[in-house]
Amino acid sequence: MTTGCFITFEGIDGSGKSTQAKKLAETLRSQGFEVVLTREPGGSEGAEQIRSLVLEGDPDRWSAETEILLFTAARRDHLERTILPAIAAGKVVICDRFADSTRMYQGLSRGDLRALVDKLHSLMIGREPDMTILIDMDPAEGLKRAKSRNTSEERFEDFGEGLQRQMRQGFLELSKEYADRFIVIDGARSQDEVAADVLSHTTNQLKGLAA
Ligand code: ADP
Ligand code: TYD
Repeated sequence: MTTGCFITFEGIDGSGKSTQAKKLAETLRSQGFEVVLTREPGGSEGAEQIRSLVLEGDPDRWSAETEILLFTAARRDHLERTILPAIAAGKVVICDRFADSTRMYQGLSRGDLRALVDKLHSLMIGREPDMTILIDMDPAEGLKRAKSRNTSEERFEDFGEGLQRQMRQGFLELSKEYADRFIVIDGARSQDEVAADVLSHTTNQLKGLAA
């Protein structure tokens, strides 16, 4: 095969995306795959700079519209410099959050801006993942996990449980809208149980991609 595979993890804060993305990358590497593990916002030098602009500071620092532009600008840089070259080189790209997060967080959380998000996505990004793993779980549990990390990047987590509940519902609806690429996994289990589930779906997806 000459082209790689693009896998994303989605879900509410604290659902276990970073943990599972890392575990999946380690397992696939041990099986001989070339893996690029990356995240959004971020994943390239410019996008990491935009990350600190959007994730730190006052929750009202940016309007929802400005946020859409910032997240999309970061995504475009990440796509050009990290994701597309790796896919073209036949690698497996595992990304912690991608455009579905913008559809949810900016498209839903402060009014109905989904149409604007989709329009900008088709203009500037125009690429969906080959497979999206949604780690679904109860927001109260997710928030407890996320808060226990104690980082300075708490702007979104500060939005609280109400928003996370809306996000969970939104992600589940999105998984039906894009049923061809979404896999929904129950995140309220041990890390190893979740990882085994993630791996079995990924192995299916990667069949045919030379290890
Ligand atoms: P996310 O990237 O979705 O915000 P993380 O992977 O950073 O979530 O996990 C949030 C916190 O919960 C971390 O401290 C992590 O160690 C812990 N965690 C992850 N998965 C589980 C799990 N299955 N059970 C219990 N704790 C978990
Ligand atoms: P992330 O570092 O993945 O946080 P967590 O590990 O807590 O899930 O993402 C940081 C925050 O950025 C998260 O609250 C969701 C938000 N976000 C958006 O609002 N829009 C986006 O397009 C992306 C990629 C993230």
